[in-house]
Amino acid sequence: MSTSSRGAWASRSTFILASVSSAVGLGNAWRFPALCAKHGGGTFLFVYLLAILAMGLPLLMMEIAIGRRMRGGAVTALGGLNRKFEPIGWAATSNAFFIGTYYAVVFAWVILMMLNSWQFAPLTGTPAAAGELWTDLTRTTATTSGYHIISWPTVGCLLLAWACIWLCIRKGTDTINKVAKYTVSLPVLCLLVMAVKGVTMPRAGEALLQLFVPEWAELADPKLWIDAFSQVFYSLSVMMAIMVAYGSFLDRDSNIAVDAAIIALADLFISILASVVMFTTMYGTGLSDKVASLGMGATFKVYPTAIVSLTESGVINALFGFVFFFCLFTLALGSAFSILEGVSTAFADKFHLSKTRCTAVLCAVSGVISLFFTCGAGLAWLDVVDNWCNSFNLILIGILETLAIGWGFKTAKVLKEINRNTKSFRMPAWWFNTAVKVLSPLLLCLFFVWNLVTLFQGGGIYGAADNYSLLSNLVGGWGMMAVVFLSGFAVRLIVRHKAKSGFAETQTAWDDAEE
Ligand code: PHE
Repeated sequence: MSTSSRGAWASRSTFILASVSSAVGLGNAWRFPALCAKHGGGTFLFVYLLAILAMGLPLLMMEIAIGRRMRGGAVTALGGLNRKFEPIGWAATSNAFFIGTYYAVVFAWVILMMLNSWQFAPLTGTPAAAGELWTDLTRTTATTSGYHIISWPTVGCLLLAWACIWLCIRKGTDTINKVAKYTVSLPVLCLLVMAVKGVTMPRAGEALLQLFVPEWAELADPKLWIDAFSQVFYSLSVMMAIMVAYGSFLDRDSNIAVDAAIIALADLFISILASVVMFTTMYGTGLSDKVASLGMGATFKVYPTAIVSLTESGVINALFGFVFFFCLFTLALGSAFSILEGVSTAFADKFHLSKTRCTAVLCAVSGVISLFFTCGAGLAWLDVVDNWCNSFNLILIGILETLAIGWGFKTAKVLKEINRNTKSFRMPAWWFNTAVKVLSPLLLCLFFVWNLVTLFQGGGIYGAADNYSLLSNLVGGWGMMAVVFLSGFAVRLIVRHKAKSGFAETQTAWDDAEE
């Protein structure tokens, strides 16, 4: 298939913008500041930087490079290195599929809050009531009961969310080329506005000190290291089939080493900017002790309490609430569409499908599945699926992919591809090899075991396992994980069956791929 029929980036900057827009998401706005608060501010930043260098950057380069060279999504690209690696590509793709189904729901909640931000005006001065707004709107029980409870506003917003996602990727890179500059510039602009507001609030100095000054004693806490490395992994969108797909739309002159470094730095910058906003706003409204508890669900409760305590004027607070949720909307959009684009690319490349049709069908199917998360028990299920996708699947895929490429293939070939067009910054072999062959698999194995132990010690990672039924853990957790890792083998059976009716697999090998 020629490059043009698969899609191509309009320019180098479009690729960078689209990748930054994928990397920069709700994780930057919530997870990152919360982890900073939990692990002594500057200390976390320091370890996070180390994690980018030791793992994030090399893996990002690796994924872009194999996509570029093989001109294919995660499945065809990994399968091209070795047929045996194809199931790893399928695992990444199906895990991304599941993440896409619930990420869209969180995205829908953001839209819901954005559209309801006028309700902050009458709630001014009553933080407790503001904290309940989201629960009232979504009608979530936060437990695995209440399957019959439906919140129509949420369903409506979910439809809107899927419409936005589909509009952005309906024609693959043709449409992403047009939206990428907005999905990066708008959130940065919003965050800058909010940061200016934040640093002019009372106790801003204290907040910034808390954020930037390291407490070196914290370094001894193993959880800090695990959190920092996992966050890098999550934030850079690696192992999600996204960066391989995005890499596959690059032309042969692209400078992977430098582009990857720009993407990682931009992501870091936006995480820090978001932390400045979160820290100063929370400190300024007297909620400093709540920063560490910001998380997927908690943010929808904690942040509104800050919004209604900002000023005495309900209108201004409501306006600020709108800006805040609009900012989250723009942040989430680029990540949400990238994850579907990755899955769609993998399918279309493997089965020679029309990309446009594949994307439409995929959005429809994911949309229907995501409806489930809008019921009363949805949040609890979402929490379970999110926990498994990120704490287990993503890490296991990381282990398999780095072992496959590091030990089952030649890292020198991948490195050559990374450094092909670079003059200014070359990725050194010692750095790349240590990261891909040794550090990543070892550390990821450690994290996997750690997460498993945490899970079984009770309480689960979110400390709320008591609220969750065994069924949700079995189906949304272990069952979903089994589907992810068996998907490649299931597809193989389907392909074998289809071969009888004339379907021919085309698989280019690395050395035969156009240089
Ligand atoms: N990097 C994203 C974030 O920080 C994570 C993500 C990417 C999630 C793509 C889903 C899809 O939010």
